[in-house]
Amino acid sequence: MPKAKKKSEPRPSSPSRSATSAMQGKRLRRTSTLPGDMTEAEYLARILRVNHAGEFGAKQIYAGQLAVLGNSDVGDTLRHMAEQEEVHLEYFAGELARRRIRPTAMHPIWRVLGFALGAGTAMLGKEAAMACTVAVEEVIDAHYEDQLHKLPAHENDLKKKIKKFQAEELEHRDIGIDHGAERAPAYELLYRAISTGCKAAIWISKRL
Ligand SMILES: [Fe+2]
Ligand SMILES: [Fe+2]
Repeated sequence: MPKAKKKSEPRPSSPSRSATSAMQGKRLRRTSTLPGDMTEAEYLARILRVNHAGEFGAKQIYAGQLAVLGNSDVGDTLRHMAEQEEVHLEYFAGELARRRIRPTAMHPIWRVLGFALGAGTAMLGKEAAMACTVAVEEVIDAHYEDQLHKLPAHENDLKKKIKKFQAEELEHRDIGIDHGAERAPAYELLYRAISTGCKAAIWISKRL
């Protein structure tokens, strides 16, 4: 069942001026919702980098699942989700390039781990592959929800995209449940392990 979404507008930012930005004639906005002493530019770099990493990870997970289950009766369902992940990834790749933000240094690691997670769960069976989708998408949903609250109002285009992608991630989660995720062997354990792994990957991708 889709979770009820709490819709709230981001709080208005309280602008401040640092010596450096003043010299550059550029104002660095700070918003009361940003973690620590982060400027808006730092926050944006961080979330775009981590979103790009996450969507790349998702693409790799589905590639791994398709390598095992591509010809099974869930092949088309997996391809549908993989195609949407490709669109999400392309958008964030474009934003990184446009804003001159470097991708995470962990990219090569996520390439291997994402594929291994997808292929590994798929080898346990269709239900385990779907359990992986449910665990991953629920972490991503919470992650995007947090950003929708923290992003400044003037980043409207970015927020609209995140909202759209979030809805698609929830669609993937629902597909997972509809395809028997909860019947996977050791579902609770699998769910918790993958969920914890995803949160760790997000934490690392924000920082490296
Ligand atoms: Fe995605
Ligand atoms: Fe997804």
